[in-house]
Amino acid sequence: MSAESSPPAVPLAAQAEAAVREAFKAALGEQAAGADPVIRPSEHADYQANGVLALARQLKANPRELAGKVAARLESSELFAQVEASGPGFLNLVFADSALTGQLAERHGDPRLGLGAPKQGRTTVIDYSAPNIAKEMHVGHLRSTIIGDALVRLLTFTGSQVIRQNHVGDWGTQFGMLIEHLLENPDVRGGDEDGDTAAISRLAALYKAARARFDTDEQFQARARQRVVALQSGDPETIAGWQEIVAESKTYFGEIYTKLGVLLTDDDIAGESSYNDELQGIADDLEQRGVAVRSHGALCVFFDDVVDKDDKPVPFIIQKSDGGFGYAATDLATLRHRVRDLKATRLLYVVGSPQALHFKMVFETARRAGYLPDGVEVAHVQFGSVLGADGKPFKSREGETIRLIALLDEAVARAKATIAERSPELEPNAQELRAHEVGIGAAKYADLSTSRTRDYVFDLDRMLSLQGNTGVYLQYAHARIRSLLARAGEAGPAPEGVPAPLEPAERALLLALDEFGDVLKSVDESLEPHRLCAYLYTLAQAFSDFYEACPVAKAPTAGQRRLRTAICELTGDTLALGLSLLGIAAPERL
Ligand code: ARG
Repeated sequence: MSAESSPPAVPLAAQAEAAVREAFKAALGEQAAGADPVIRPSEHADYQANGVLALARQLKANPRELAGKVAARLESSELFAQVEASGPGFLNLVFADSALTGQLAERHGDPRLGLGAPKQGRTTVIDYSAPNIAKEMHVGHLRSTIIGDALVRLLTFTGSQVIRQNHVGDWGTQFGMLIEHLLENPDVRGGDEDGDTAAISRLAALYKAARARFDTDEQFQARARQRVVALQSGDPETIAGWQEIVAESKTYFGEIYTKLGVLLTDDDIAGESSYNDELQGIADDLEQRGVAVRSHGALCVFFDDVVDKDDKPVPFIIQKSDGGFGYAATDLATLRHRVRDLKATRLLYVVGSPQALHFKMVFETARRAGYLPDGVEVAHVQFGSVLGADGKPFKSREGETIRLIALLDEAVARAKATIAERSPELEPNAQELRAHEVGIGAAKYADLSTSRTRDYVFDLDRMLSLQGNTGVYLQYAHARIRSLLARAGEAGPAPEGVPAPLEPAERALLLALDEFGDVLKSVDESLEPHRLCAYLYTLAQAFSDFYEACPVAKAPTAGQRRLRTAICELTGDTLALGLSLLGIAAPERL
């Protein structure tokens, strides 16, 4: 795709900026070099340039007069139909119709919608999902999986080689009791084979039973501790038990990933255990470099700004006094691997906000140790909690973290009811598939459309509402466009030139379409998918205003019909691409 895509269409905002910059220079010569035109969307025009104010201040000139001078220079530009100095020194910019239809012609029908080839030369490692073996995935893992998947798709599109890493928790002392129980009770391997939750029900049963014995039976406790030692020393029987548990968990995670339709596969799993052999080396290296020091037998890193409430420094423990390694050492080995071996230029960790301090210390330690060179960007892409209707972190009535699958299944079941009601003509199989796309899409969209770091309430009614900023609303908007295009039956390139003066609703929609590339760029930089959601919602609303004001099939002239059809097509394609970058299906019919 990248090789064939045409050069990017320069967004109108960027064209306006360049034109104003030129006009600054023409009016003022070198004195204006470097002045920022400050282009903003405007209520009174297509865009507003506010840069005259700062420039006038700098030159000690009268801003209104200066704005008038610059406006006069811009009058002759083909880009604008109208340029007006207003207020204390703003410039109101109204594009020529031909500028808007020209953009449409460049983007329409291009496989990348006129956004040009993806950027080259970046390698981004995205760490996401990362559930823990032998435990259920909880809603926090759901958020990580959904946000991570959207970032994988977005960054791949804007231009990065993306390496997915599922840093599953597959090591630790909890395995002692699990393996011990498994080996002592081979019959727990049974369980019913049917039903897609078989793997997790077996694991949950194992976990529960092992835990119960561990908490009540002291001799079992001692044997479980022995197992941890046996596991760490690579005892074959113990390792075999561990592998069995890991394999079962992977099956369970795979079921959820399939249900969610995310890109993660078994090949993306690089669990904590895969770094075991490097941990001692990391510890020695940090100690040798003086980054870590021994304190009460443990190997620790200290930070001036990480202190407890008595102002005592809180240690970042690399190696415990008993010689064991934990989460910190593993993450340092992981980071080093990603930079050194995977050649990452950008490292993203999609993990909940409670781990902010952990990552701050990982990153800072890595910098001190030289594992994180200057050109490599690193970010903890944090997110808030999912809350229940009561505003408290989402829990089932039993107080356990609610079963993820159950939650998704309920979204799908509700979507099914809506679809059966609205589209009874769809085949039952198609209804089933659509229900899946809508239900899962609703849950993903609800998650992605909230500003990442905020908590949000998991509310199926709101998620599946046909009104408002929801996935379902966008899916319906997209399907409606496809169906009206199918009815119009007219296809072909966007017209050259301007068939008739543009209606305000046409202008507004064309302007909105033109902003797509800038929005993707801002998501790439900010790692905030909700900006794309907000954009798609605005776009769908602009479309609905357009469709109300501007008949398509019954447009006054053939030229306008062609133009409007092309506008519908580009809107449909933009919605479909936008949703796909969020990991959400955009069915043609609903
Ligand atoms: N397994 C961890 C948890 O459930 C998340 C791991 C995140 N990734 C990392 N590199 N630490 O909390």
